[in-house]
Formats: sequence, structure tokens, C-alpha cells
Amino acid sequence: MRIAIAASEGAPYIKSGGLGDVMEALPSALSRIPGNEVALFLPYYGKIRNNPAYKTELVAQFSVSLGWRQQYAGILRLLDRTDGVQVYFIDSLYYFGNRNGAIYGDFDDGERFAFFSKACLDAMVSMAFIPDVIQCNDWQTAALPVFLSAQYSPLFPGTKCLFTIHNIEYQGWADGPFFDDVLALPEGYRGMLDMNGAINMMKGAIETAHMVSTVSESYAKELMYPYYAHGLDGVIANAGWKLTGITNGIDTNTFNPATDPALPAHYTKTTLKKGKALCKAALQEEVGLPQKADTPLLVMVTRLVGHKGLDLLCYAIEDLLANEDFQLLILGTGEKKFEDFFLNLAAKYPDRVSAKITFSLGLASRIYAGGDIYLMPSKSEPCGLSQMNAMRYGTVPVVHATGGLRDTVSGVDENGKGGLGFTFQSYNGDDFRQAVVNCLNLYHNQPTAFRALQKLDMSQDFSWDKPAQRYMNLFTSMCNG
Ligand code: GLC
Repeated sequence: MRIAIAASEGAPYIKSGGLGDVMEALPSALSRIPGNEVALFLPYYGKIRNNPAYKTELVAQFSVSLGWRQQYAGILRLLDRTDGVQVYFIDSLYYFGNRNGAIYGDFDDGERFAFFSKACLDAMVSMAFIPDVIQCNDWQTAALPVFLSAQYSPLFPGTKCLFTIHNIEYQGWADGPFFDDVLALPEGYRGMLDMNGAINMMKGAIETAHMVSTVSESYAKELMYPYYAHGLDGVIANAGWKLTGITNGIDTNTFNPATDPALPAHYTKTTLKKGKALCKAALQEEVGLPQKADTPLLVMVTRLVGHKGLDLLCYAIEDLLANEDFQLLILGTGEKKFEDFFLNLAAKYPDRVSAKITFSLGLASRIYAGGDIYLMPSKSEPCGLSQMNAMRYGTVPVVHATGGLRDTVSGVDENGKGGLGFTFQSYNGDDFRQAVVNCLNLYHNQPTAFRALQKLDMSQDFSWDKPAQRYMNLFTSMCNG
């Protein structure tokens, strides 16, 4: 099958969050399935352009029309990809090359990514690469299915489009005139993108894509409700017949405690006890916590933003510190109020709390390996990847049973039996605290059961093989439908 994937980020070239990880592993996993031809389209950001490691060749150039604008686009094929995925960068100095710093957040993001979406289609046409399926991701590529449906379908006979939602908080809002001025779509499409007089590109994608997916089965159900859908619940409910959930995997080659080059010691299920103890001692030293082998180390690797459930931790932590024996380590950056909270907490309890307000992939790995218990009390979570990373490294998760967390971490009882981690059902600080206490009790009072749980977590198959097969099944049904 010929598969084109369009996204605004993809590791290792460019990544700001989980979407970047998925766009590294999913194309690769799909290309390993015999008979598939996979092409990944990404914007050619300055950060990629300026990285000498990424050698490219120019394979096409043309201009993209956006209303009255004619904007140059070059298609650069990456030369050194070895796994069979063809990576194409959409080159535009104006929209991507000359913007400094962050990849999102410019005044004209709507126009930038409408350009990208259209340029991907123009690129496929100019390379005569007409795929069976185009998979688009999040609002930045939400205009693609709309353009495909409105203007490109004669050039793509039989091509089906899947729109995948990773993050519904950002929807590609623009003011009303954007419809004529930038998108310049036929009048009949106005209603599909209109939301109360404004333009919402994600709404357009949900209405025009042949199928819509999100990144876990539970989240697909949750999206029908206003609490999760950020205003799009009605639109999603109407499109319910074409919405499915496919739970992400993780890159089990990168995230492997037996080989991860960032770790001071390596281990497998059978050498877990010794290997983790070495990683824990080294981690405690690295982050300035006392090297106590028997004190459970609670860890979090997260963006410090509201929906990650940090308010529950802020609520419960003083009480936990007063009554329980543990150390806490947090890695991440984000909202200032949370950064300050954890820095202050670390200053107040220097022997028990460490806060690393930074972004570090190496330290993240050492935390998955050196921690005992992984906290992820997210308010909502489309899938979540780090809970799977943690389990792969034998770190027991404590999670809010929502979205992908519900699907990847089945709950254990107080003896650590019957699941993979500790869960709490309703989003409140006392229930979260109790789940942490239950997990700490297991650690202290039933070390054998705790160890068995760690091993069970390490034995799970979180690889992309099964999810990739589910995408294939979906693609096949779309093409036959
Ligand atoms: C977004 C979601 C996260 C998901 C990731 C990859 O970052 O918030 O839950 O794991 O996308 O799909």
C-alpha cells in the first residue's frame, strides 16, 4: 500500500512533544510491513535546515496558491534515511526557514500550516506519488483533507484520508475572512469550517476526512463529551461513525533498559534488581538527592502544564511528605506557576525533593530507569507515552484512569495483583494521594509483590508492531469501503 503521512513534527528531525515521537516510530513500523511504500512530509524548519546532519536533494519545486498569494515551495528528499521511509521536507524560507526559535506560536500559524497542507498535496502531484491513503495529524495538517475533498480529488482518484487527533486543545482557529483570503475554498465548504462565525480547521478535517482516529480507544469515547472535546463534542458526535481509537506504541529499540546508551547500568527483567539499584544510586547522585537505596523514588517526566494533573500533586504533596517515606524527582518545563512550585518545594525539602526545570532526553531515560514509581495523574490524556516508557524500565505507574492511561495501565489491587499499576478513577487530589499511598505500601510492605509487578510491567509488548497493524487494517477497510 502507498501511504503518505503529513505532520508538523517528527523526531529525530524536529520534536516538541508526543506527536514527534509517534511520527518517528509509526512511519517506520508501517514501512516494515511488506508491500508498503511510506512517505513522510514535514516542514523544513530553520532548525532542520541548519543541521548539517540532514543531507537532502531537491526533487521538485513549484508555487502554492493561497488566495491571491503565490508562495514558492521546494521539495527536499532526505538522503540518509535507512529504514525505507521516504522523508520529504517542504521548503519555504518565508513560512518555515526564516522563523527563529519555536516551531509553533507565530502570528500567522494558520496561514503557515494551511500552506504546508496544500504544499503536501502539490508535492504528491508533482512527484506523481498518488497514495492509497494520506494520514494527517492534528490541526496543523487539518486543511489537507479539506483541500483534498474540495479541489484535489480529480488528481487523487481513490485516495482516502485519515485524520488523527493527538491534541484537541489546539484546533487551528482563524477569523472568518481567513476562509476566502487564505483557504480560498468553494462556498460549499464554508459551513464545514465555520464555528460561530470563526474558522476552525480541525472541524473541517473531521467533516471532510474519510475516517478520523485518535490515539487510544478510551479517548475516542471520551471525545464525545464536552469535558474532553474543547467545543468539538457535537462535531465529533456527528462524525462518531467514522471515529476510531488506535493506542500508540513506543519505540522499544530506543527505550530499552538493556541497551539505552544514556544509562549508567543496563538491565533486563532478570537483572532488574541489581541494574535498577545502580541506576537509582547514580540518579540520586546526579540530581542531588541522598543515595538511599530503600527509599522509594517517585518520578515524573512531564510538560509542566495543567492537564498533566499537576494541581493534584500540588494539593497532595505536603501531606504525603509529612506522612510517608519517599523522594520525589520532577523533570520538565512549562507554566511558571508549576516551575516555581516545584523549585520552592525542592528548596524547602532539599533531601527529599529535586526539581529539574529543563528538557533532557538523557536525564529522562535515567529517570525512567532509576525511579521506582512513575506518577501520571493527567486530567485527560489522549494516549500518553511516558507511562509506557516507565513500565518498559520497570517503574510502576500511578495514573488517573483516563484516555490512553486507562488503556495502557490496568489497575492493581492493594496487593499489586490483577493489573500493571495503581489507578484512581475520579480526578481529585485525595484519590490520587490514596493511590500513591497504596503504591508506597506495596513497595515497603510487600517487596516481592512490588518486584513481580515491575517485572510484569517490563514484560508488556508496547512496540509499534500491533498498532501499525491496526492502522493497516483501518487503511485497508477505508480503501475497500
Ligand atoms: C499528544 C497527547 C499524548 C499522546 C501524543 C502522541 O501529545 O497529549 O497523550 O501520547 O500526542 O499521540
